[in-house]
Amino acid sequence: MEEYCCVLLTVACFISLPSVQSENYYAKNALTADGGWLSTRNSSPADEGPCTVEVRDQSLTYSQFIERYAYSRPVIIRGLTDNTKFQFQCSKSSLLQEFGDRMVRLSTANTYSYRKVDVPFQEFVEHLLRPQSLETLGSDTLYFFGDNNFTEWRSLFQNYFPPPYTLPGTSGAYSFGIAGPGTGVPFHWHGPGYSEVIYGRKRWFLYPPEKVPNFHPNKTTLSWVVDTYPALNQEDRPIECTIHPGEVLFFPDRWWHATLNLDTSVFISTFLG
Ligand SMILES: *[C@@H]1O[C@H](CO)[C@@H](O)[C@H](O)[C@H]1NC(C)=O
Ligand SMILES: *[C@@H]1O[C@H](CO)[C@@H](O)[C@H](O)[C@H]1NC(C)=O
Repeated sequence: MEEYCCVLLTVACFISLPSVQSENYYAKNALTADGGWLSTRNSSPADEGPCTVEVRDQSLTYSQFIERYAYSRPVIIRGLTDNTKFQFQCSKSSLLQEFGDRMVRLSTANTYSYRKVDVPFQEFVEHLLRPQSLETLGSDTLYFFGDNNFTEWRSLFQNYFPPPYTLPGTSGAYSFGIAGPGTGVPFHWHGPGYSEVIYGRKRWFLYPPEKVPNFHPNKTTLSWVVDTYPALNQEDRPIECTIHPGEVLFFPDRWWHATLNLDTSVFISTFLG
């Protein structure tokens, strides 16, 4: 089972401290709709696809969440928290200004992630954050997600409001990432949690724990979408949807899932462990 311990299981503890940002800080970092991350050159490699995940809004109560979703099916919830301030801080210019010289740890984007590489954040953004080519294996693609140093990046995480609905007996731990269009992680599973995109769109594919998907652990989600997905029988299709900023996807315990970033995406997961 040791092999199952991929980067996505890497969860770090997080301590919340009061914010010390001045109002001036936000005024200086004017926000564009894409935070400076997208460009026309980065056009989407795939479309959004159908949405077969249930979508609810903030009228969903905690008891409804527990009864209907927490232990049985994924759900997308809209408008649960207002992360405008966090989104501001996640613009390309703000992150580069604040964290450009900090190191980030990248992992290969295969199911059982093997290799880790440390690079300065600025180098990652300028040279490694690029669209996924169809031919490159996941095991040869470097991905920035999780393995975050919460001491160095505390001023960022303290501005994030996670979804308020947790599971009894669990607490949340964050994994933050940024990735290019066409990138994503192939099928894997772990404990329950949430995924939110701050910029860009992320397409999700999910299967219940008992339905093991047909996939190669070293191939990318992009190649799975192009080569395997179109030939699936109706009954073998995943539950799927594309999430946008302002929406969070909840995945229950042990559900298989794969992701595909349709744009350059800035995203954060809250693992409930
Ligand atoms: C996180 O960053 C702090 C401050 O730079 C450093 O002392 C610590 O060793 C880092 N932790 C890890 C796990 O790399
Ligand atoms: C996946 O890639 C890793 C690293 O290159 C390799 O060790 C492993 O054998 C590959 N797995 C499969 C199923 O091809």
